[in-house]
Amino acid sequence: MIPCLMLIAGTTIISLIIPILIYFLRFRTSKNVAYVIVLGDVGRSPRMQYHALSLAQKGFQVLFFGFAGSTPHRDVLYNKSIQLVHLLPTPEVFKKLPSSLSFVAKVIWQSLVLFTCLTFYRRPSHVLIQNPPAIPTILVSLIACRLRGSRLIIDWHNYGYSIMALTLKNPQHPLVRVYKWYERKIGCLADSHTCVTDAMKEDLMQNWQIRAVTVHDKPASIFKRLTMLEKHTFFQSFDPFRSPSPSSSFSHNIFTKMRPDGDAEFSEGRPVLIISSTSWTPDEDFNVLLEALEAYEALSSPSSSSLSLPPIVCVVTGKGPLKSHYTKLISEINWVKVKIVTPWLSAEDYPTMLGCGDLGVCLHYSSSGLDLPMKVVDMFGCHLPVCAVRYKCINELVVEGKSGWLFDDSKQLCQLFLDLLKGFTTKSRRLEESRDWLRDHPIGDWDSNWKRNVDQLFN
Ligand SMILES: *[C@@H]1O[C@H](CO)[C@@H](O)[C@H](O)[C@H]1NC(C)=O
Repeated sequence: MIPCLMLIAGTTIISLIIPILIYFLRFRTSKNVAYVIVLGDVGRSPRMQYHALSLAQKGFQVLFFGFAGSTPHRDVLYNKSIQLVHLLPTPEVFKKLPSSLSFVAKVIWQSLVLFTCLTFYRRPSHVLIQNPPAIPTILVSLIACRLRGSRLIIDWHNYGYSIMALTLKNPQHPLVRVYKWYERKIGCLADSHTCVTDAMKEDLMQNWQIRAVTVHDKPASIFKRLTMLEKHTFFQSFDPFRSPSPSSSFSHNIFTKMRPDGDAEFSEGRPVLIISSTSWTPDEDFNVLLEALEAYEALSSPSSSSLSLPPIVCVVTGKGPLKSHYTKLISEINWVKVKIVTPWLSAEDYPTMLGCGDLGVCLHYSSSGLDLPMKVVDMFGCHLPVCAVRYKCINELVVEGKSGWLFDDSKQLCQLFLDLLKGFTTKSRRLEESRDWLRDHPIGDWDSNWKRNVDQLFN
Protein backbone atom coordinates (compact mmCIF):
# COMPACT_ATOMS: atom_id res chain seq x y z
CA MET A 1 0.00 0.00 0.00
CA ILE A 2 2.66 2.53 1.09
CA PRO A 3 5.03 1.80 -1.81
CA CYS A 4 2.07 2.21 -4.14
CA LEU A 5 1.21 5.62 -2.69
CA MET A 6 4.82 6.68 -2.87
CA LEU A 7 4.92 5.66 -6.50
CA ILE A 8 1.84 7.74 -7.32
CA ALA A 9 3.19 10.72 -5.37
CA GLY A 10 6.54 10.36 -7.11
CA THR A 11 5.03 10.20 -10.57
CA THR A 12 2.85 13.22 -9.88
CA ILE A 13 5.79 15.28 -8.67
CA ILE A 14 7.92 14.31 -11.63
CA SER A 15 5.20 14.98 -14.15
CA LEU A 16 4.77 18.41 -12.57
CA ILE A 17 8.48 19.17 -12.42
CA ILE A 18 9.28 18.28 -16.01
CA PRO A 19 6.92 20.78 -17.66
CA ILE A 20 8.02 23.45 -15.21
CA LEU A 21 11.66 22.68 -16.06
CA ILE A 22 10.93 22.79 -19.76
CA TYR A 23 9.06 26.03 -19.31
CA PHE A 24 11.99 27.59 -17.50
CA LEU A 25 14.58 26.22 -19.91
CA ARG A 26 12.87 27.02 -23.18
CA PHE A 27 10.00 29.44 -22.86
CA ARG A 28 10.70 31.80 -19.99
CA THR A 29 12.31 34.14 -22.43
CA SER A 30 12.91 37.80 -22.24
CA LYS A 31 13.59 39.49 -25.52
CA ASN A 32 17.08 39.70 -26.96
CA VAL A 33 19.23 38.08 -24.34
CA ALA A 34 22.71 37.00 -25.44
CA TYR A 35 25.37 35.18 -23.46
CA VAL A 36 29.08 35.81 -23.96
CA ILE A 37 31.25 33.12 -22.39
CA VAL A 38 34.98 33.08 -21.66
CA LEU A 39 36.54 30.24 -19.71
CA GLY A 40 39.26 32.62 -18.61
CA ASP A 41 39.85 35.98 -16.98
CA VAL A 42 37.19 38.38 -18.29
CA GLY A 43 39.42 41.42 -17.81
CA ARG A 44 42.11 39.84 -19.93
CA SER A 45 39.78 39.00 -22.81
CA PRO A 46 39.53 42.33 -24.62
CA ARG A 47 38.10 40.75 -27.74
CA MET A 48 35.15 39.18 -25.93
CA GLN A 49 34.57 42.52 -24.22
CA TYR A 50 34.30 44.18 -27.66
CA HIS A 51 31.85 41.49 -28.72
CA ALA A 52 29.80 42.17 -25.57
CA LEU A 53 29.79 45.91 -26.31
CA SER A 54 28.80 45.37 -29.93
CA LEU A 55 25.95 43.11 -28.82
CA ALA A 56 24.82 45.72 -26.28
CA GLN A 57 24.84 48.29 -29.03
CA LYS A 58 22.70 46.02 -31.16
CA GLY A 59 20.13 46.06 -28.38
CA PHE A 60 20.87 42.82 -26.58
CA GLN A 61 20.82 42.32 -22.84
CA VAL A 62 24.22 40.66 -22.46
CA LEU A 63 25.17 38.20 -19.75
CA PHE A 64 28.94 37.99 -19.71
CA PHE A 65 30.27 34.84 -18.01
CA GLY A 66 33.91 34.38 -17.05
CA PHE A 67 36.37 34.00 -14.21
CA ALA A 68 37.13 36.93 -11.95
CA GLY A 69 40.61 38.40 -12.14
CA SER A 70 41.68 41.68 -13.64
CA THR A 71 39.17 44.50 -14.02
CA PRO A 72 37.32 44.65 -17.34
CA HIS A 73 37.03 47.84 -19.33
CA ARG A 74 34.87 50.52 -17.68
CA ASP A 75 32.54 50.60 -20.70
CA VAL A 76 31.72 46.96 -19.99
CA LEU A 77 31.70 47.34 -16.23
CA TYR A 78 29.28 50.29 -16.11
CA ASN A 79 27.05 49.42 -19.06
CA LYS A 80 23.53 48.66 -17.88
CA SER A 81 22.96 46.30 -20.80
CA ILE A 82 25.89 44.10 -19.78
CA GLN A 83 25.76 41.97 -16.65
CA LEU A 84 28.96 40.29 -15.51
CA VAL A 85 28.56 36.84 -13.97
CA HIS A 86 31.64 35.35 -12.37
CA LEU A 87 32.07 31.60 -12.73
CA LEU A 88 33.11 29.66 -9.63
CA PRO A 89 36.90 29.30 -9.89
CA THR A 90 38.42 25.85 -10.20
CA PRO A 91 39.52 24.76 -6.69
CA GLU A 92 43.25 25.15 -6.05
CA VAL A 93 43.49 21.62 -4.62
CA PHE A 94 43.07 20.23 -8.15
CA LYS A 95 46.53 21.52 -8.99
CA LYS A 96 48.05 19.26 -6.36
CA LEU A 97 46.78 16.15 -8.15
CA PRO A 98 48.87 14.36 -10.80
CA SER A 99 48.61 16.29 -14.07
CA SER A 100 46.25 14.00 -16.00
CA LEU A 101 43.95 13.59 -12.98
CA SER A 102 44.05 17.32 -12.38
CA PHE A 103 43.00 17.89 -16.00
CA VAL A 104 40.03 15.51 -15.67
CA ALA A 105 38.96 17.06 -12.36
CA LYS A 106 39.19 20.53 -13.86
CA VAL A 107 37.12 19.53 -16.89
CA ILE A 108 34.38 17.97 -14.76
CA TRP A 109 34.27 20.97 -12.45
CA GLN A 110 34.14 23.48 -15.29
CA SER A 111 31.47 21.47 -17.11
CA LEU A 112 29.20 21.51 -14.09
CA VAL A 113 29.75 25.19 -13.38
CA LEU A 114 29.23 26.16 -16.99
CA PHE A 115 26.17 24.00 -17.49
CA THR A 116 24.53 25.39 -14.36
CA CYS A 117 25.13 28.94 -15.53
CA LEU A 118 23.90 28.20 -19.04
CA THR A 119 20.61 26.80 -17.81
CA PHE A 120 19.98 28.89 -14.72
CA TYR A 121 19.66 32.42 -16.12
CA ARG A 122 17.13 33.94 -18.53
CA ARG A 123 16.95 32.06 -21.79
CA PRO A 124 19.33 33.54 -24.37
CA SER A 125 18.50 33.68 -28.06
CA HIS A 126 22.24 33.51 -28.83
CA VAL A 127 25.31 32.17 -27.03
CA LEU A 128 28.76 33.34 -28.08
CA ILE A 129 31.73 31.31 -26.82
CA GLN A 130 35.44 31.68 -27.19
CA ASN A 131 37.56 28.81 -28.43
CA PRO A 132 40.01 27.67 -27.02
CA PRO A 133 39.52 26.03 -24.58
CA ALA A 134 37.32 23.66 -26.57
CA ILE A 135 37.13 21.22 -23.67
CA PRO A 136 34.64 21.44 -22.12
CA THR A 137 33.22 24.72 -23.48
CA ILE A 138 31.91 23.66 -26.89
CA LEU A 139 30.17 20.45 -25.87
CA VAL A 140 28.59 21.85 -22.71
CA SER A 141 27.41 24.99 -24.50
CA LEU A 142 26.08 22.94 -27.38
CA ILE A 143 23.99 20.72 -25.08
CA ALA A 144 22.66 23.73 -23.18
CA CYS A 145 21.85 25.56 -26.43
CA ARG A 146 19.97 22.59 -27.86
CA LEU A 147 18.01 22.20 -24.62
CA ARG A 148 17.04 25.84 -24.60
CA GLY A 149 16.65 26.43 -28.31
CA SER A 150 19.43 29.02 -28.50
CA ARG A 151 21.87 29.56 -31.34
CA LEU A 152 25.52 28.80 -30.64
CA ILE A 153 28.26 30.96 -32.17
CA ILE A 154 31.94 30.12 -31.78
CA ASP A 155 34.62 32.78 -31.94
CA TRP A 156 37.78 30.93 -33.04
CA HIS A 157 40.90 32.53 -31.56
CA ASN A 158 43.03 29.47 -32.08
CA TYR A 159 42.82 25.68 -31.95
CA GLY A 160 42.81 24.15 -28.49
CA TYR A 161 44.57 21.03 -29.72
CA SER A 162 47.52 22.99 -31.12
CA ILE A 163 48.05 24.68 -27.77
CA MET A 164 47.89 21.31 -26.05
CA ALA A 165 50.43 19.91 -28.53
CA LEU A 166 52.75 22.75 -27.65
CA THR A 167 52.28 22.23 -23.91
CA LEU A 168 52.89 18.49 -24.16
CA LYS A 169 55.72 19.12 -26.68
CA ASN A 170 54.34 16.31 -28.84
CA PRO A 171 51.83 16.80 -31.67
CA GLN A 172 51.27 13.02 -31.93
CA HIS A 173 50.31 12.56 -28.28
CA PRO A 174 47.05 10.55 -27.96
CA LEU A 175 45.47 13.32 -25.89
CA VAL A 176 46.21 15.82 -28.66
CA ARG A 177 44.55 13.54 -31.22
CA VAL A 178 41.47 13.10 -29.06
CA TYR A 179 41.34 16.84 -28.51
CA LYS A 180 41.59 17.52 -32.23
CA TRP A 181 38.92 14.96 -33.09
CA TYR A 182 36.58 16.41 -30.48
CA GLU A 183 37.25 20.04 -31.43
CA ARG A 184 36.43 19.36 -35.05
CA LYS A 185 33.44 17.03 -34.58
CA ILE A 186 31.74 19.15 -31.95
CA GLY A 187 32.94 22.48 -33.29
CA CYS A 188 31.21 22.08 -36.64
CA LEU A 189 27.85 21.48 -34.91
CA ALA A 190 27.66 25.12 -33.81
CA ASP A 191 25.31 27.38 -35.77
CA SER A 192 27.77 30.10 -36.83
CA HIS A 193 31.45 30.90 -36.57
CA THR A 194 33.68 33.94 -36.38
CA CYS A 195 37.48 33.99 -36.28
CA VAL A 196 40.49 36.24 -35.84
CA THR A 197 42.37 36.04 -39.14
CA ASP A 198 41.78 35.30 -42.82
CA ALA A 199 44.33 32.49 -42.50
CA MET A 200 42.19 30.88 -39.83
CA LYS A 201 39.05 31.36 -41.90
CA GLU A 202 40.66 29.52 -44.82
CA ASP A 203 41.98 26.79 -42.59
CA LEU A 204 38.57 26.24 -40.98
CA MET A 205 37.01 25.98 -44.42
CA GLN A 206 39.61 23.73 -46.00
CA ASN A 207 40.18 21.25 -43.22
CA TRP A 208 36.96 21.25 -41.27
CA GLN A 209 34.38 22.61 -43.76
CA ILE A 210 33.46 25.31 -41.29
CA ARG A 211 32.34 28.61 -42.78
CA ALA A 212 33.49 31.51 -40.60
CA VAL A 213 33.72 35.28 -40.91
CA THR A 214 36.88 37.18 -39.99
CA VAL A 215 36.84 40.01 -37.47
CA HIS A 216 40.32 41.43 -36.97
CA ASP A 217 41.16 42.67 -33.49
CA LYS A 218 41.40 46.35 -32.71
CA PRO A 219 43.43 48.21 -30.10
CA ALA A 220 41.50 49.47 -27.09
CA SER A 221 41.04 53.24 -27.05
CA ILE A 222 43.44 53.52 -24.12
CA PHE A 223 46.29 52.62 -26.50
CA LYS A 224 47.12 55.89 -28.24
CA ARG A 225 49.95 58.11 -29.34
CA LEU A 226 51.32 60.36 -26.59
CA THR A 227 52.57 63.95 -26.70
CA MET A 228 56.11 64.80 -25.57
CA LEU A 229 54.75 66.28 -22.38
CA GLU A 230 52.78 63.13 -21.58
CA LYS A 231 55.90 61.05 -22.18
CA HIS A 232 57.95 63.33 -19.98
CA THR A 233 55.42 63.17 -17.16
CA PHE A 234 55.44 59.39 -17.25
CA PHE A 235 59.24 59.13 -17.41
CA GLN A 236 59.50 61.47 -14.42
CA SER A 237 57.14 59.35 -12.37
CA PHE A 238 58.83 56.07 -13.17
CA ASP A 239 61.59 55.17 -10.71
CA PRO A 240 63.95 53.16 -12.94
CA PHE A 241 64.11 56.13 -15.35
CA ARG A 242 65.05 58.78 -12.79
CA SER A 243 67.96 61.06 -13.61
CA PRO A 244 71.17 59.85 -11.93
CA SER A 245 71.97 63.31 -10.57
CA PRO A 246 69.50 64.27 -7.87
CA SER A 247 69.94 68.05 -8.37
CA SER A 248 68.34 67.98 -11.83
CA SER A 249 65.92 65.16 -11.25
CA PHE A 250 62.89 67.47 -11.01
CA SER A 251 63.22 68.43 -14.68
CA HIS A 252 65.30 65.58 -16.15
CA ASN A 253 65.16 61.85 -16.49
CA ILE A 254 67.28 59.56 -18.62
CA PHE A 255 65.10 60.17 -21.71
CA THR A 256 63.57 63.65 -21.63
CA LYS A 257 63.98 67.09 -20.12
CA MET A 258 61.79 70.10 -19.57
CA ARG A 259 62.25 73.08 -21.89
CA PRO A 260 61.98 76.68 -20.64
CA ASP A 261 58.84 77.16 -22.75
CA GLY A 262 56.95 74.54 -20.76
CA ASP A 263 57.13 71.72 -23.30
CA ALA A 264 59.42 68.70 -23.04
CA GLU A 265 62.06 67.31 -25.40
CA PHE A 266 64.34 64.30 -25.75
CA SER A 267 67.76 64.64 -24.18
CA GLU A 268 70.81 64.47 -26.44
CA GLY A 269 72.39 61.01 -26.28
CA ARG A 270 69.39 59.42 -24.60
CA PRO A 271 68.94 55.64 -24.69
CA VAL A 272 66.51 53.94 -27.04
CA LEU A 273 63.47 52.54 -25.29
CA ILE A 274 62.60 49.05 -26.48
CA ILE A 275 59.51 47.38 -25.07
CA SER A 276 58.56 43.77 -25.08
CA SER A 277 55.57 42.29 -23.40
CA THR A 278 55.73 38.56 -22.92
CA SER A 279 53.60 35.91 -21.32
CA TRP A 280 56.79 34.07 -20.27
CA THR A 281 55.48 30.84 -21.75
CA PRO A 282 57.26 28.23 -23.91
CA ASP A 283 55.66 29.63 -27.10
CA GLU A 284 57.53 32.90 -26.61
CA ASP A 285 61.24 32.22 -26.58
CA PHE A 286 62.68 35.01 -24.48
CA ASN A 287 66.21 33.78 -25.23
CA VAL A 288 65.92 35.24 -28.71
CA LEU A 289 65.63 38.77 -27.35
CA LEU A 290 68.28 38.13 -24.70
CA GLU A 291 70.79 36.87 -27.27
CA ALA A 292 70.06 39.72 -29.68
CA LEU A 293 70.68 42.26 -26.91
CA GLU A 294 73.84 40.45 -25.89
CA ALA A 295 75.15 40.62 -29.46
CA TYR A 296 74.21 44.31 -29.61
CA GLU A 297 76.10 44.93 -26.38
CA ALA A 298 79.18 43.18 -27.75
CA LEU A 299 79.06 45.17 -31.02
CA SER A 300 78.64 48.51 -29.31
CA SER A 301 81.33 48.03 -26.67
CA PRO A 302 84.02 50.76 -26.77
CA SER A 303 86.53 48.47 -28.50
CA SER A 304 84.32 48.10 -31.58
CA SER A 305 82.33 51.30 -31.42
CA SER A 306 82.84 52.54 -34.99
CA LEU A 307 79.10 52.02 -35.49
CA SER A 308 77.99 54.81 -33.11
CA LEU A 309 75.14 52.90 -31.55
CA PRO A 310 72.88 54.36 -28.86
CA PRO A 311 72.46 52.72 -25.48
CA ILE A 312 69.30 50.65 -25.04
CA VAL A 313 66.86 50.39 -22.18
CA CYS A 314 64.71 47.33 -22.70
CA VAL A 315 61.52 47.09 -20.69
CA VAL A 316 60.05 43.61 -20.43
CA THR A 317 56.60 43.32 -18.92
CA GLY A 318 54.12 40.54 -18.30
CA LYS A 319 53.41 37.71 -15.92
CA GLY A 320 53.99 34.06 -16.61
CA PRO A 321 55.46 30.71 -15.58
CA LEU A 322 59.05 31.33 -16.75
CA LYS A 323 59.33 34.84 -15.35
CA SER A 324 61.26 34.04 -12.18
CA HIS A 325 63.73 31.93 -14.15
CA TYR A 326 64.53 34.82 -16.48
CA THR A 327 64.51 37.60 -13.89
CA LYS A 328 67.22 35.67 -12.07
CA LEU A 329 69.21 35.41 -15.31
CA ILE A 330 68.70 39.12 -16.00
CA SER A 331 69.77 40.15 -12.50
CA GLU A 332 73.14 38.48 -13.11
CA ILE A 333 73.75 40.42 -16.33
CA ASN A 334 76.15 43.32 -16.13
CA TRP A 335 76.23 45.07 -19.48
CA VAL A 336 77.28 48.64 -20.23
CA LYS A 337 75.22 49.66 -23.25
CA VAL A 338 72.09 47.62 -22.63
CA LYS A 339 69.90 47.65 -19.53
CA ILE A 340 66.95 45.29 -19.06
CA VAL A 341 64.21 46.19 -16.61
CA THR A 342 61.27 43.95 -15.72
CA PRO A 343 58.82 46.23 -13.92
CA TRP A 344 55.34 45.34 -12.86
CA LEU A 345 53.00 47.71 -14.66
CA SER A 346 49.42 48.51 -13.71
CA ALA A 347 46.67 48.32 -16.33
CA GLU A 348 46.89 52.12 -16.75
CA ASP A 349 50.69 52.30 -16.89
CA TYR A 350 51.10 49.62 -19.54
CA PRO A 351 49.50 51.62 -22.40
CA THR A 352 51.48 54.70 -21.32
CA MET A 353 54.69 52.70 -21.37
CA LEU A 354 53.90 51.50 -24.89
CA GLY A 355 53.15 55.09 -25.89
CA CYS A 356 56.59 56.13 -24.64
CA GLY A 357 58.53 53.41 -26.46
CA ASP A 358 60.65 53.73 -29.60
CA LEU A 359 60.37 50.14 -30.74
CA GLY A 360 58.34 47.10 -29.67
CA VAL A 361 59.52 43.52 -29.80
CA CYS A 362 57.06 40.65 -30.13
CA LEU A 363 58.28 37.13 -29.45
CA HIS A 364 54.90 35.48 -29.92
CA TYR A 365 55.01 32.43 -32.10
CA SER A 366 51.55 31.16 -32.95
CA SER A 367 51.05 27.48 -32.13
CA SER A 368 48.77 27.06 -35.13
CA GLY A 369 50.20 29.83 -37.32
CA LEU A 370 46.67 31.17 -37.57
CA ASP A 371 46.30 33.74 -34.82
CA LEU A 372 47.79 37.18 -34.28
CA PRO A 373 49.40 38.66 -31.16
CA MET A 374 47.08 41.13 -29.47
CA LYS A 375 50.03 42.98 -27.98
CA VAL A 376 51.16 44.04 -31.46
CA VAL A 377 47.64 45.35 -32.13
CA ASP A 378 47.95 47.43 -28.95
CA MET A 379 51.45 48.61 -29.89
CA PHE A 380 50.12 49.79 -33.24
CA GLY A 381 47.37 51.63 -31.39
CA CYS A 382 50.20 53.62 -29.74
CA HIS A 383 51.91 54.03 -33.14
CA LEU A 384 54.80 51.96 -31.85
CA PRO A 385 56.61 50.10 -34.66
CA VAL A 386 57.51 46.48 -33.92
CA CYS A 387 60.00 43.76 -34.64
CA ALA A 388 58.06 40.49 -34.58
CA VAL A 389 58.83 36.81 -34.94
CA ARG A 390 58.02 35.66 -38.47
CA TYR A 391 55.28 33.05 -38.88
CA LYS A 392 52.56 32.10 -41.31
CA CYS A 393 49.97 34.85 -40.99
CA ILE A 394 51.81 37.67 -39.20
CA ASN A 395 51.65 39.57 -42.53
CA GLU A 396 47.94 40.11 -41.97
CA LEU A 397 49.01 42.49 -39.21
CA VAL A 398 52.59 43.66 -39.74
CA VAL A 399 53.33 45.34 -43.07
CA GLU A 400 57.01 44.63 -43.48
CA GLY A 401 59.17 47.72 -43.84
CA LYS A 402 56.20 49.96 -43.01
CA SER A 403 54.69 49.21 -39.62
CA GLY A 404 57.36 46.74 -38.57
CA TRP A 405 60.01 44.19 -39.38
CA LEU A 406 60.08 40.41 -39.07
CA PHE A 407 62.82 38.10 -37.83
CA ASP A 408 63.47 34.38 -37.50
CA ASP A 409 66.21 34.29 -34.88
CA SER A 410 68.31 36.38 -32.54
CA LYS A 411 70.88 37.13 -35.24
CA GLN A 412 68.29 38.74 -37.48
CA LEU A 413 66.80 40.63 -34.55
CA CYS A 414 70.20 42.05 -33.64
CA GLN A 415 70.72 43.04 -37.28
CA LEU A 416 67.38 44.86 -37.20
CA PHE A 417 68.45 46.75 -34.09
CA LEU A 418 71.66 47.77 -35.86
CA ASP A 419 69.88 48.88 -39.03
CA LEU A 420 67.14 50.78 -37.26
CA LEU A 421 69.27 52.45 -34.61
CA LYS A 422 72.46 53.35 -36.47
CA GLY A 423 73.11 57.07 -36.24
CA PHE A 424 70.43 57.54 -33.61
CA THR A 425 70.76 60.82 -31.75
CA THR A 426 67.47 61.81 -30.16
CA LYS A 427 65.33 60.02 -32.72
CA SER A 428 65.66 57.42 -35.44
CA ARG A 429 64.56 58.42 -38.92
CA ARG A 430 63.28 54.98 -39.87
CA LEU A 431 61.32 54.58 -36.67
CA GLU A 432 59.78 58.04 -37.12
CA GLU A 433 58.72 57.17 -40.68
CA SER A 434 57.14 53.98 -39.44
CA ARG A 435 55.34 55.87 -36.69
CA ASP A 436 53.87 58.28 -39.24
CA TRP A 437 52.83 55.40 -41.46
CA LEU A 438 50.95 53.88 -38.53
CA ARG A 439 49.21 57.20 -37.91
CA ASP A 440 48.07 57.30 -41.53
CA HIS A 441 46.99 53.64 -41.63
CA PRO A 442 45.07 52.93 -38.43
CA ILE A 443 44.25 49.25 -37.96
CA GLY A 444 41.19 47.35 -36.90
CA ASP A 445 37.95 49.11 -37.70
CA TRP A 446 36.02 46.81 -35.37
CA ASP A 447 32.62 48.51 -35.45
CA SER A 448 32.06 48.65 -39.19
CA ASN A 449 33.58 45.19 -39.66
CA TRP A 450 31.31 43.81 -36.95
CA LYS A 451 28.20 45.45 -38.45
CA ARG A 452 29.07 44.19 -41.93
CA ASN A 453 29.91 40.57 -41.03
CA VAL A 454 28.87 39.53 -37.53
CA ASP A 455 25.68 41.48 -36.96
CA GLN A 456 23.61 39.18 -39.20
CA LEU A 457 24.65 36.10 -37.20
CA PHE A 458 22.71 37.50 -34.27
CA ASN A 459 19.37 38.08 -35.99
C1 LIG B 1 26.34 50.04 -23.66
O1 LIG B 1 27.35 50.02 -24.65
C2 LIG B 1 26.89 50.19 -25.98
C3 LIG B 1 28.07 50.01 -26.91
O2 LIG B 1 29.13 50.84 -26.56
C4 LIG B 1 26.20 51.52 -26.12
O3 LIG B 1 25.72 51.68 -27.44
C5 LIG B 1 25.06 51.58 -25.13
O4 LIG B 1 24.46 52.85 -25.21
C6 LIG B 1 25.54 51.33 -23.73
N1 LIG B 1 24.38 51.24 -22.87
C7 LIG B 1 24.32 51.75 -21.64
C8 LIG B 1 23.01 51.59 -20.92
O5 LIG B 1 25.25 52.32 -21.13
